[in-house]
Amino acid sequence: MKKHEDISRRDAMKMAISLFGGLIGTTLGIPAVAYIIGPALKMDKANWIRVNSLSAIELETPTLFKPRVTRQNGWVAEEEEVGIFVLTEDGRDYHALSNICTHLGCHVHWIAEREQFLSPCHNGVFDKHRYVVSGPPPRPLDEFETKIEDGNLYIQLPAIKRAS
Ligand code: FES
Repeated sequence: MKKHEDISRRDAMKMAISLFGGLIGTTLGIPAVAYIIGPALKMDKANWIRVNSLSAIELETPTLFKPRVTRQNGWVAEEEEVGIFVLTEDGRDYHALSNICTHLGCHVHWIAEREQFLSPCHNGVFDKHRYVVSGPPPRPLDEFETKIEDGNLYIQLPAIKRAS
């Protein structure tokens, strides 16, 4: 009987030590895991980027701006330039279009005399309002959400991919 009590006491002690060790491991482990994977979870978080002052935007002609943005991709922060064509017909509604062709990613150019965007790589053509006119692009130019604050135009990254 006494021997049985000793074994039980020993087992109880082992269990208590295991429980205590597990508790310490969990207490230290959760913050460590959060620290390690935290930046990866912040990847591609949408954010607002200032493009320029409204006074710098021409009426009725797409105006190219290249704001610099910092993208956090896991542990790596990369600074890059984003090409944005801004179009307003009336100075109230603003459309911000990506300058990246939706075919294979070449930069499009605004051809003023034709009032069209041209992608020189494979002759993709888009109209002033971003829609495909001819060539291989599968969909219109991507468009960004916009907002105006204190006389400045902001866009939200990433762009919205819309089918034609
Ligand atoms: S990349 Fe624009 S048409 Fe091919």
